[in-house]
This record gives sequence, C-alpha cells and structure tokens, in this order.
Amino acid sequence: MTYQNYSLKQLQQIDAAHHLHPFTDHKELRETGSRIITHANGPFIYDSEGAEILDGMAGLWCVNIGYGRDELADAAYAQMKELPYYNSFFKCSTPTPVLLSKKLAEIAPKHVNQVFYGSSGSEANDTALRLVRHYWVLEGKPEKNRIISRKMAYHGSTVAGTSLGGMDGMHKQLNGAVPNIVHVMMPYAYELALPGESDHDFGLRAAKAVEDAILEAGADKVAAFIGEPVMGAGGVKIPPVSYWPEVQRICRKYDVLLMLDEVITGYGRTGEWFAAQTLGIEPDTITTAKALTSGYQPLSALLVGDRIASTLVEKGGEFNHGYTYSGHPVACAVALKNLEIIEREGLVDRVRSDTGPYFAKALQERIAGHDLVGEVRSIGLMGAIEIVKDKATKERFLPSGSAAVVVRDHAIANGLMLRATGDTMILSPPLIWTRDTIDMACERIGKALDLAQADLRKR
Ligand SMILES: Cc1ncc(COP(=O)(O)O)c(C=O)c1O
Repeated sequence: MTYQNYSLKQLQQIDAAHHLHPFTDHKELRETGSRIITHANGPFIYDSEGAEILDGMAGLWCVNIGYGRDELADAAYAQMKELPYYNSFFKCSTPTPVLLSKKLAEIAPKHVNQVFYGSSGSEANDTALRLVRHYWVLEGKPEKNRIISRKMAYHGSTVAGTSLGGMDGMHKQLNGAVPNIVHVMMPYAYELALPGESDHDFGLRAAKAVEDAILEAGADKVAAFIGEPVMGAGGVKIPPVSYWPEVQRICRKYDVLLMLDEVITGYGRTGEWFAAQTLGIEPDTITTAKALTSGYQPLSALLVGDRIASTLVEKGGEFNHGYTYSGHPVACAVALKNLEIIEREGLVDRVRSDTGPYFAKALQERIAGHDLVGEVRSIGLMGAIEIVKDKATKERFLPSGSAAVVVRDHAIANGLMLRATGDTMILSPPLIWTRDTIDMACERIGKALDLAQADLRKR
C-alpha cells in the first residue's frame, strides 16, 4: 500500500502515534500535526495538499543540486544491483569510496589528502574529536586533549557533537558532556561588537578569546580549536574577515590543531568547494556531510590533513574507530555523481561570480530597508535576516525568538520555505537558484515581512 491511499489526516495521526521527530516539542506537534512533503522537483517541494513551496533551505542545508535528479537515482540503482553493501573493515574496500576519496583529495585544499567516512555530520565530528586526541597520543602528548569550541556552535546531536557544540539547551539535556571541551565567545559583531568597535577590531577580539582559552589551560593541554567557518544553525553568523586568519595564526603559534566544521559550507555554498578556500586557511581536519550527496544519501566525509594523516601512517597502530556504513558503496556512488553534476554545471563558479553577489545585493536592496529588519548578511548562497522591533536600538520582540517564527509561517504560507533560529531568519537555498529564483524569493520574503509586521504591531 502506498501513501496515496491515506488521507493527510490519517498520515498525521499515524505520524503522531509512532514517529518521534528530531528537535521537536512532541506535545505541540501532536496538537498541530506535521506538514507532509510528498515530492519535489528542481528548487520546489510539494506537500500532500498540492502546495508548491520554493525551498529556501535546500532541505536542511544539503540539496545543493536541487530535487528530481534522475542521474543520482540511476547511480544508486546501478550500485545496489552490483554491490549494495560491503564494509571497509578487515583490509577490504569497494570501488566507489576509493574513487570518491581520490576526487575529494583533488577538490580539497592541497594539504588535505585523506578521507574517513561516516553517515552524518555528527558522526564525522565524533571521528574528528577521537582522531585529534589519538593524534596527540601518537605524538607522545596525551595530556594535550582539550578542545576549544564556541558558544552557539552547532556540531551535531550525538554526545560528542552536543559536547563540541555550544547550545545551552542541548547541554542542559545532555546533563554531562564529554570532558575537556570549553566554549569561547562567537564572532557575532551585530550583537557583540562594542559601541564604535570596527568589524576588523571585533574580529581580532573574538579571535583573542581563543588565545585566552589556550593560555588559561596551558598550550601543552590544548589539542585543537573547532569552528564552523560561518556558524549555520546558530544563525548564519559570518565572522569579520580579520577573524579566521588570526585564529589560524594563534593555533599555529601554540601548536593547536585547527578543525573546521564544513558540514554546511562544504561543496560550494560559499563559492568555493570549501569555505577553507574562501577564507584562505589550512585546517587540519574538515568535517563534511550534507551536500556531499546533495542529501540524496546519508554520507559524511572527514577530510584529514597531511599532518595528522602522516602521523597515523608513520606511527602505525590501530585507530579503534569506525562505522558499519563507513564508505558505503551506494552512498559513495551517489556522491561521485553529485560532484560530477556540480562540476559539469559550474555551480560553484556560479555562486562565486553570479548568484552569490546577486543574492547579497538583492538582500541589501530589497530586504534590509524593511522596518522589521535590523541587518541582512550573506556569503555565497547563505544568508540571514535579523528581525527586530527597533532598527536603531536593535531591540527585539518579546518573548525572544517569537517574531522570526511569525515571519517564517507567513513565508511558508506564501510559498517560501525559510527557517527561523532565535530572532534570525536563515536562508541556504540550492545552488541551482538563478537570478530569477532569487527575485522570486525576495518578493515572498518582502510579503512575509509585511504580513508579520501587521501581526507583530498588534501585540
Ligand atoms: C555545522 C554542522 N555540523 C554538524 C552537523 C550535524 O550533521 P548531522 O545532522 O548530519 O549529524 C550539522 C547539521 O546541521 C551542522 O550544521
């Protein structure tokens, strides 16, 4: 029996009876029922009631080549027929992870040539955490095991991901994080810059917080610093240009490894294959997932720099870590086809030279002036809109976080899927968006803001 035999109400009832959704208030969901998305094509998703919605979030920051790509389905089908599964334990391999690793080494920064696979960004960050600690043990410095991260960082939802992340609500529920992980201030100028402080100076001050944490612990105790190039789930917080080069300088000065979490930014979002290339930095690990397969299959790839990889190889000894689905042949076949399409259609170049700059200009010219908008910002095809009550003072609506939800709901009702995080609207569309799609999105955002303004002013 297929889902078409069920009414929306029936599907919602079954969903409520048996399905616990991620990051969800289960009591509330049972009162409202889920929106059931049934199919999708190009930049659009469709719900069970036939509504066509422009997907401003590329699923969950992942469907970079858009929906409905038969080539990916064909690649999965062919691989499943030939070899649906074999593991990469016991000195075995299968062809697709081999070829994907070669491809990833070609597109990654020059000093990055090795890959460790998993099925999700969270798993890849677990791997990264274990790998950097293992590295320092192999180097004869087991006490160098502390990781510095940032408040509001999102590194996934497993125990290690939550511990690395800096989300208070998640830490409270975890009730006991992986030890020796500390969190420093985030580089978020809109709220944290001092009056009169330039972006440049603020970036240096935020980087100095990393140095202070290293000095407080003692450099001989610090394994690594981890950060998202642009904090995504935390609200598309784009650091000042002074931030990352300074963080890298500090890490090098104290011999601290640099771990970059590119689960969102990897595979073209910032206008280069990786944000490391956009920012001109050389991290020791790069965590990637999501757009590696454009979300068509679950797959993550931790890209490992030569420094760590050569120690692993030279010192030897088993790294006691891995997953049943590390290097899954079907997921890797789909990733290979996905990267081929991104390359063939020039999507990364398009973001850098055309749609990225057009998107930035459109947000500035058509959205930034709205009364509800405190700031817009973007990098490549990743953007944020700050919702405020008062543009001049940056005062927010109360309760905190409630206003962006009003904007989001109007956006969805007007045919644009947007996400609200705190008081920030975030956008991360498929890289296939054209200037016309950006125009369509801006028109719908404008409409949602007008309608939300009318609602919010009544409060
Ligand atoms: C930066 C970052 N790291 C890690 C993750 C976790 O990835 P996953 O949900 O695939 O475990 C996410 C998910 O959004 C993310 O944005």
